[in-house]
Formats: sequence, C-alpha cells, structure tokens
Amino acid sequence: MQNKGSRQIVMSGIRPTGFLHLGNYFGAVRNYVRMQDEYHCFFMVADLHSLTTHPDTKELSTNVKRVLAENIASGLDPDKVALYCQSHVHETGELYLYLNMLAYKGELEKTTTFKDKVRLQPDNANAGLLTYPVLQAADILMHRATLVPVGKDQEQHLEMSRNFANRFNHRYGEIFPEPYAFNFGEQLVKVPSLDGAGKMSKSENQYATLYLSDTDDLIRKKVMKAKTDSGPTERNSSKPDYIDNLFQLMNLVSEKDTISKFETDYDNCNIRYGDMKKQLAEDMVRFISPIREKVESILSDERYLKNVMEKGAEKARVSARETMKLVREAMGLKYY
Ligand code: TYM
Repeated sequence: MQNKGSRQIVMSGIRPTGFLHLGNYFGAVRNYVRMQDEYHCFFMVADLHSLTTHPDTKELSTNVKRVLAENIASGLDPDKVALYCQSHVHETGELYLYLNMLAYKGELEKTTTFKDKVRLQPDNANAGLLTYPVLQAADILMHRATLVPVGKDQEQHLEMSRNFANRFNHRYGEIFPEPYAFNFGEQLVKVPSLDGAGKMSKSENQYATLYLSDTDDLIRKKVMKAKTDSGPTERNSSKPDYIDNLFQLMNLVSEKDTISKFETDYDNCNIRYGDMKKQLAEDMVRFISPIREKVESILSDERYLKNVMEKGAEKARVSARETMKLVREAMGLKYY
C-alpha cells in the first residue's frame, strides 16, 4: 500500500447512521468493489461526520462495525484496500483545520445538505454541520485522491472539495489534485424510494427504503406496498414517478428479459402491477439475502473486525502522514 505507483487514488466514505440500503450499495459500495483491483483505494466509515447529526454515541460502536461488515459482505476485500474508521486517522482533524481557513461562511451556508439538515434539526445547527463539506474535503485530499465513488447527492460536496483544493494550491503551492465524483456507469446514481417520493435514505421514510439487513418477508412487504395505479390507458405513454421508480429498481436487480417483458406490457397497456411487484420482490430477495447472511457471520467475529480496523487505519495513516508533511511544509509551518 505504501507505494501508490501509477494507480489512480480512490477515496470514499459512508456515515454509520443506520443500516446500509440499496442507495448506498448502488451509489457507492458497488463501485468500491469494482474499483478495488485496479485502483489504490481508501474507504472509510465516516464516524466523525455522523456526530454532526447523531451526537448520542451509545450505538456508535455497533453501527461502525455493522457498516464495516456490510462493506465486506458486499465484496470489499480489506487486504486489497484500506478499510478504516475516520476517527482513527488523527491527521484528518489537522487538515480540516487548515482547510477551514479557506472555506467561506457564505458558501457553506448555501450548501444543500446544510440547509436540509438545519431544517430537520433546527435546534442543533452546529458548526460541525456548517463545515461538514470541509471535513469531507479533508478526508479526500488527505490521500490526494482523484476519484470519489459516490451517489448523486454528493456532487455538490465534491465541487466544494475541488474549490478548497484549488484555493490551497493557489495560496501555498500545488499539493492537491482535483477530486471528481465517480460512477462506473455514465452518470452518478440516485436510487429512488419505493413510495415515488425522493430517494432511499438511512433516516427518512424507512418503509420506502430497502436495507441490506431486511428479512425476506420485510422486503416482500415493502415492495408489495409500493404505490401503483390502474395502469396506462394509452399506448407508449410516459410513466408517473412512482411507476418509473419501480422500473428503475427493477433495472438494478432483475434480468434484462424480465425488464423488457414488463416494459412491453406497459407500452401495450396490459401491465399487471401485482405481477411486476411480485417479480421485483423476489429479485430483491435474491439480491439482498446473501449479503444479509454474510453480514451476520462477519459481525459474529469481533477479533476479525478489530484486525480489519487496525490494519486499515495503519494503511490510511501512512498515506496521511506523507500528505501532512507536504502540507505543513507548503504552508510554511516548519521553522527549523
Ligand atoms: P452517506 O453516508 O449519506 O451515504 C453513503 C454513500 O451512499 C450514497 N447514497 C446514494 N446513492 C444513490 N442513491 C441513493 N438513494 C443514495 N443514498 C446514499 C451517497 O452518495 C454516498 O456515496 N458525506 C458522505 C460521507 C463521506 C464521504 C467522505 C464520502 C464523508 N467523507 C469522503 C466521500 C468521500 C455521506 O454522508 O454519505
């Protein structure tokens, strides 16, 4: 891991604020798994970021371990990548401090995620929430990463990371490359919720979100409850959002032939939504249940998880120390 060689550097993170869902999987983790053989990868559990909205730490340890296990169960190999906890890399706090001097109040206040979170928790509009994108930039720039596999909701944070990197380079000298949001398909992914409103999310509308931890029965119940209507009455008509979402979800887990059968039925106005949802539910069960079972077996091995965390942190710290040495020198924080 020390020798980054010519491989591009990849960095990403997930907050331990709840069970991972299909959005996290298709927006982020699936890309991690595909990238691990060809790139130099750093993937972390963003435990510090979670404190901006979840100050109660009673469940933190359980949640951190769960996210690690969910990453591994999805196919991530801790021997191939650095899989670590954000709080284990203390250099992050230092870089965050320096970058904060290059981040302006106005731009931070305009960030969409800040405005959303203040709306959700008006009594806790803390400075950590305001500077959330600065901490995220510190995570990414710490490893001088250029590719950041994330879902569509993170695009603005990546733009801010590029701005902070450029400002630093302009003021102190070229240290950081520009990081870009990445997805293996052409576009960044937004996995829609089952109720036709918004996206799947860890905290909002739990019945409209499919988690990697859901039991087979719960998956079936959630899918069967998804909103439909009596079907199109004109051939080749456009789809309402809630129907389009079902097709998008089918695209993620079902066979091509199955999808095209229901597309054709829709276009010919003879689609049976009950059948479509039954099929989607079974395909979701087939997809989610092996991951859920692996998560449970990984979680039962505490020693293995401790080992993963220790090794991952060490790999991340090596890279962080190298970067911080360059950063301090560039900034003139070296007096002898
Ligand atoms: P978080 O924990 O909210 O989400 C983790 C990842 O899942 C993606 N995601 C989705 N993708 C598609 N459709 C959805 N419905 C969906 N919901 C979530 C997110 O885009 C993300 O990739 N700020 C980050 C954590 C973070 C980070 C970083 C990411 C901290 N430091 C450095 C990248 C680099 C966050 O809150 O992710």
